[in-house]
Amino acid sequence: MKIMMASSEAAPFAKTGGLADTVSSLSLALANLGHEVKIVIPRYYNIDREPLEQLEGPLGVGTGGGEEWCAVYKTSLPGSPGKNTIEIFFVDHEKFFGRDGIYGTPAEPDFLDNPRRFSFFCRSVFQLCRKLRWEPDILHAHDWPGALVPVFLKFGEKYFPGFDNTKSVLTIHNLGYQGIYSKDNYWFTSLNWDVFGAAGFEDWNMMNLLKAGICCADKLNTVSRRYAEETRTQSQGFRLDGVLRYRSEDYQGILNGIDTELWNPARDKFIPAPYSSKNMAGKAKAKEALQKEFGLSGRADVPVVGMISRLVDQKGVGELFGPGYGSAFSICRDMDLQFVILGTGENWCENEIRSLSSRLSNFKAKIAYSEELSHLIEAGSDFFLMPSRYEPSGLNQMYSMVYGTLPIVRNTGGLADTVQNYNQDSGGGTGFMFDDLNPSAIYNTVGWAVWAYYNRRDDIEGMRIRGMNQSFSWEISAKKYIAMYEAALAT
Ligand code: ADP
Ligand code: GLC
Repeated sequence: MKIMMASSEAAPFAKTGGLADTVSSLSLALANLGHEVKIVIPRYYNIDREPLEQLEGPLGVGTGGGEEWCAVYKTSLPGSPGKNTIEIFFVDHEKFFGRDGIYGTPAEPDFLDNPRRFSFFCRSVFQLCRKLRWEPDILHAHDWPGALVPVFLKFGEKYFPGFDNTKSVLTIHNLGYQGIYSKDNYWFTSLNWDVFGAAGFEDWNMMNLLKAGICCADKLNTVSRRYAEETRTQSQGFRLDGVLRYRSEDYQGILNGIDTELWNPARDKFIPAPYSSKNMAGKAKAKEALQKEFGLSGRADVPVVGMISRLVDQKGVGELFGPGYGSAFSICRDMDLQFVILGTGENWCENEIRSLSSRLSNFKAKIAYSEELSHLIEAGSDFFLMPSRYEPSGLNQMYSMVYGTLPIVRNTGGLADTVQNYNQDSGGGTGFMFDDLNPSAIYNTVGWAVWAYYNRRDDIEGMRIRGMNQSFSWEISAKKYIAMYEAALAT
């Protein structure tokens, strides 16, 4: 099957979160199953053109504002199987993408011209296929930045040779971001006004890009079974639950896998010594290195709780760090543990975390983005905290389990589908869970984990091994994607 992935992120070139990991590792898994996969993303300013190969000639893209011209670069996706290379293409347009930030900057979190930038990007996907003389079976779009791809296919492109047999699939990685803009921006899509209603853009007199993608895609999915259910409810449907219920027959949850080459304690180049469930000595070395890196006392006997997160409401940071309200301060004050966090995000939260680290000797933070440190935290921590308000899939809890680090998570979305709660009677489970998101639930559950660390050592070791022996590889999920593509082609 020929599959074109259209995404705003792909690891290792452009990443703000799990979307990037997922697009690249899903593509690798599909290629390993023998399918022909290509990826297209914008060429953001920080992607160095030097090692890339430029396609000959410019690419003309028709938009509402007239024809825009861009260059296209390409390279092969690192890790692609030798005989089935995945080409990744970069659409290079100075005015739209030659700036800092993917969606925005701290000063301007959502660029004003985002509807225009991503309309252009989605239209360029079709022009690129034409330029390559490559007729995809499936156009697989991701999240709101890719959501116009199914719309453009349905209302225009499919009537042209090259796309007459093509079907579209849209993956929702996060319903909290929909791309809602003033209708004035509709003009950049170059679609007629009768399409506005027919394609499902209408949203309380605004234009909703994700909603239109949901209405137009041949098949839809999100990234865990539980989240697919949650998004169909009024409380967690972000006002799109009705549309998702309406499309129920075509909508399912497929759990993300993880890249087991990149996230594997036996082969990880970012940790001091490799380890596995059979020989855990390297994990103790990683803990020591982590304590040193964060300036914590080098105690082997104390539990280290790690966290790596975008510091946004979705991740439960209000309940954890809200000034005078969040439980992080009392957790660190009352319990004999060490806490390390790596993250960037909302200003208030970054400031509060800085303030906590100046007040507490066992709380250390790096307000930064670092791939390397993220591996050290996964390996060196005993517990990994993810108190998410909602979590479509979540990758870090899976990384944690394969690194023998026990996740402490809220019972929601992909967290619920991947973590088994500790059973104090049998010693079973792979992590610690709580239901309601509030500061005392986080406090009590971290307390429970710390209690088990000091008083139920055998259970903790058993849980680590159980987690490490689980498989979160992509193979099963990639086959589910193929089944979804086949179902789309049969429509
Ligand atoms: P989300 O996509 O909602 O942020 P996921 O758990 O799916 O959540 O994926 C987050 C990914 O981003 C993980 O690979 C995580 O390690 C990475 N990440 C998030 N913040 C940072 C950071 N500050 N430094 C390094 N990696 C980060
Ligand atoms: C989103 C979700 C996260 C998911 C990721 C990749 O960013 O918040 O839960 O793992 O997409 O699908």
